[in-house]
Order: sequence, then structure tokens, then C-alpha cells
Amino acid sequence: MAKITYVEANGTRHEVEAENGSTVMENAIRNDVPGIVAECGGACTCATCHVYVDEAWTAKAGGPSVMEEDMLDFAFDVNDNSRLSCQIKVSDELDGLVVHVPENQA
Ligand code: FES
Repeated sequence: MAKITYVEANGTRHEVEAENGSTVMENAIRNDVPGIVAECGGACTCATCHVYVDEAWTAKAGGPSVMEEDMLDFAFDVNDNSRLSCQIKVSDELDGLVVHVPENQA
């Protein structure tokens, strides 16, 4: 289990307990975190699950795969810490992870 905090663009925080092996996107949907749309259901083909990984967590969360990077081209306002949340797998290592939800999704 890992605690994940989603911070909306307006500053509202949502703390959830996430199971190992699930994705950061799935936990956002399950817990009704606004701003994560996830149109493709986690297939890495929509870019509507875009999040910014908090600076303190970018090393642990790692960078996007080549496929994910291609898909990120379709997201709005992509930064160095942008990830598609359906491609971040929850593990004990990520206990305490903080991600920021962008104002708009693609
Ligand atoms: Fe579609 Fe992540 S849910 S790319």
C-alpha cells in the first residue's frame, strides 16, 4: 500500500491509499479525483490522465517510456515532470507520492 496525494490546480488535496500494482490513474478514478479523465482506460492512447509528478518524487517515479513520451505530445502544458498517470505503477517505494493535476486535459 502507498499513500498518494493528488493536488488539484486550485490547491485542493486528495489523499488516497493505493494498492501495490494498481496505477496512479486507477486510484484517481476510484476516488473521484477531478481532472483525471482517463478516456482510454489506461491503454496509453489518450493522454487525458496527464499529471505533474511533484519535484520531490521525480527520481523515484522515474521518467516516461518511449511510448508514453510519444503520447505526452498530445497533452496540454507538458513539463519535464509530466507523466501519464496510467503508466505509473504503485509500489511501497512510492508511499507518499504527490502528483499535481493540470488545469486542463487534452
Ligand atoms: Fe489514457 Fe492514460 S488513461 S493514456
